[in-house]
Amino acid sequence: MRPTSALSGSRDDLVQQDAAFFLHQAASTPCRAAVERAESIWLVEKGGRRVMDFHGNSVHHIGYAHPALVAALKAQLDNLVFSPRRFTNEAAVGLARRLAALAPPPLAKVLFAPSGSNAVEIALRLARVATGRFKTVSFWDAFHGAGFGASSVGGEAEYRSGRNGPLLPGAEHVPPCTCYRCPLGYPESEGRPLLDVCRTACARLIRTVLEKEGDVSAVIAEPVRSTAHVPPPGFWPEVRAACDAHGALLIFDEIPNGLGKTGRLFAFEHFGVVPDIVVLGKALGGGILPLAAVIARAGLDVAGHLSIGHYTHEKNPLCARAGLATLDILETEGLVGRAAELGTYALAWLRQRFARHPLVGDVRGLGLRLAVELVEDRVTKRPACAAAARVQAAAFARGLNFSVSGGNVLVLSPPLVIGRTDLEAALEILAACLTEPTG
Ligand SMILES: Cc1ncc(COP(=O)(O)O)c(C=O)c1O
Repeated sequence: MRPTSALSGSRDDLVQQDAAFFLHQAASTPCRAAVERAESIWLVEKGGRRVMDFHGNSVHHIGYAHPALVAALKAQLDNLVFSPRRFTNEAAVGLARRLAALAPPPLAKVLFAPSGSNAVEIALRLARVATGRFKTVSFWDAFHGAGFGASSVGGEAEYRSGRNGPLLPGAEHVPPCTCYRCPLGYPESEGRPLLDVCRTACARLIRTVLEKEGDVSAVIAEPVRSTAHVPPPGFWPEVRAACDAHGALLIFDEIPNGLGKTGRLFAFEHFGVVPDIVVLGKALGGGILPLAAVIARAGLDVAGHLSIGHYTHEKNPLCARAGLATLDILETEGLVGRAAELGTYALAWLRQRFARHPLVGDVRGLGLRLAVELVEDRVTKRPACAAAARVQAAAFARGLNFSVSGGNVLVLSPPLVIGRTDLEAALEILAACLTEPTG
């Protein structure tokens, strides 16, 4: 039966039409609602209902449809709209120069791609060329993109199991640094590790894997996970030292959490380490255009004789203009500092309000990347998946959108432009929904 016939009498129902015409897949289609406008921190549904968006796929650091970005894009459209292969342009060069200047040395050379997944794969190819090795080490449960290469270093069951395999060879995985649920079984206190007990055993395990494998090209990871797991001090310096000792590159995926989300322009700046390659994406296109970037050590410019990822829209001037305008807005509006300040406030608020809440096992975060992990029992830490789904639905009904990760982790990722009053209103919605989960 053709999909249109299934829709007779309901052509206005976009959600139904969406389900009829799009291929279905986990966490994508079918949809929950249709959006008519997106502005600042708000999604506006058909009919006018406004929903605060604390998800936004992490693209909306500067809010949706920022007027300065829209104006810059309109001006660019009146100027140069495309730049075919082997042609360059002012916007693309300007953005590459700007990113190279913003990244700490020795990060200095840039490549653009149309998606985070593509950019991750460029980084993986570059590591192969630079080291002459193909193995990688990454974390179970991580997500690095939907491509075969990116999902090979990812650690999510949806991409790895059943008929989704086989993936790239040599993609080794280690347990993630998730202190509230330490995969190595070490104890924690209020979500924080007892470092004199565990002595960051998870980082030492990575050193062991690098040593035993002996020929790993790169360790790839998010410095701060999207589920707001923040590794303790000492973790990344130990991994950096292990990579150096065993000839592996360190690649940081900052696709959702770079560009100020954590309260620093680059999330890795919190940890006193600099990777060999950092990958940015999502918010780089200002929440309007798709754009990702690889920034590598100058010494890694070693693939001039090969192709490591030249995409059709690599030097698209409109996308590059979006990146430049986004960086301007982040700077002129002081959004990175704002993320740090509001994030500290929100984390303290959540920790204080939920300190004794029986459903709340852990509250964590850095800057405006926050998470509340729900449990059925604070001692056994059994994931409270049904409660998380109820709280998410109840919050959405009250005008707050956020995602749920791993079935029981409420992930809060507000735009960096959010005002204190709106942030407080959102936190109150969450608190009300947690108190009356069926409300
Ligand atoms: C950590 C991380 N890496 C990579 C990606 C892939 O980015 P894209 O969807 O632009 O390919 C995502 C997307 O959610 C992500 O969260």
